Amino acid sequence: MSSQFTVEKTQHPKTKPDQQNLGFGKHFTDHMFLMNYTAGEGWHDARIVPYAPLSLDPAAMVFHYGQAVFEGLKAYKTEGGRVLLFRPDQNLERLNISNERLSIPQIDEALVLEGIKELVRTDADWIPTAEGTSLYIRPFIIATDAALGVHPSPQYLLIVILSPVGAYYPEGLKPVKINVESEYVRAVRGGTGVAKTAGNYAASLRAQEEAEKQGYAQVLWLDGVEKKYIEEVGSMNVFFKINGEVVTPALNGSILSGVTRRSIIQILQDKEIPVVERRISIEELYEASVNGTLEEAFGTGTAAVISPIGELNWEDKQITINKGEIGQVSQELYDTLTGIQNGKVKDTF
Ligand code: COI
Repeated sequence: MSSQFTVEKTQHPKTKPDQQNLGFGKHFTDHMFLMNYTAGEGWHDARIVPYAPLSLDPAAMVFHYGQAVFEGLKAYKTEGGRVLLFRPDQNLERLNISNERLSIPQIDEALVLEGIKELVRTDADWIPTAEGTSLYIRPFIIATDAALGVHPSPQYLLIVILSPVGAYYPEGLKPVKINVESEYVRAVRGGTGVAKTAGNYAASLRAQEEAEKQGYAQVLWLDGVEKKYIEEVGSMNVFFKINGEVVTPALNGSILSGVTRRSIIQILQDKEIPVVERRISIEELYEASVNGTLEEAFGTGTAAVISPIGELNWEDKQITINKGEIGQVSQELYDTLTGIQNGKVKDTF
């Protein structure tokens, strides 16, 4: 037990789900990590307790003004039984960037990392080991003060919950069809696109719903000003391989700085595959597809790791990528990154 927080074990352990049939984010483990913030006192009462519903005042500010931030990261169990967390420091660093944007007080990253480690140790039996599975870790912070005036809350709750997961998309690594979104935008510079905050995801649902109705898995987001430059795909960063070079939109103030995005760039550099972060327009992408130089496309995120794109629909123009099949580089990146995550491939960074 850590001296920094208390651990109260459950008296009613739950039955664990079938590892072959986990889905994503449907099952939750026996414990959770909690920590409160009170203005004047700071963060306090860090504790691990049995997983249970919360009791919140209906006036809690999160319900009304959406002051909420979150993260997503994963834990893996190696064949030898060691538990590995993938780059948790980068997620906690980004949580504080989101906090800053949403006027939520900064957390002590080292303390929360200790809390996450202790929580994962407590529920280590829940880490699935079947191919393609992991333990998804969801830290989040909500504003809990009961007040309807619009101002930063003086009280918050930080929570970490754990979910044994399989593939995010039921298709797994099968390339998906994507619609280029021409009406709605995800974020604008100066907005909250760089923060991982609940409202960004709420605002994305309408476009996703319409894309699904038309048979697409997700949307490709264009910039919010000119609707010309590519930003993200669904809730992921996006990469294209054009004429031997991998291109990803440069972080411009409205794109989320993905931990997986950063790792993919590092792996590409390590493999000496040319990679560049720059502005890329949908016209350029279309032209590349017409002249045969658009070789691969894929989304990157913690949940799906790599999600290959097989087809893009842009204003009724169909762009088929690599005959709708997963590209060689996409597959290699998936194998390397998941290999690092589950301890089978040496991490060189
Ligand atoms: C990720 O790719 O990890 C995401 O951001 C999706 C998550 C919100 C489920």
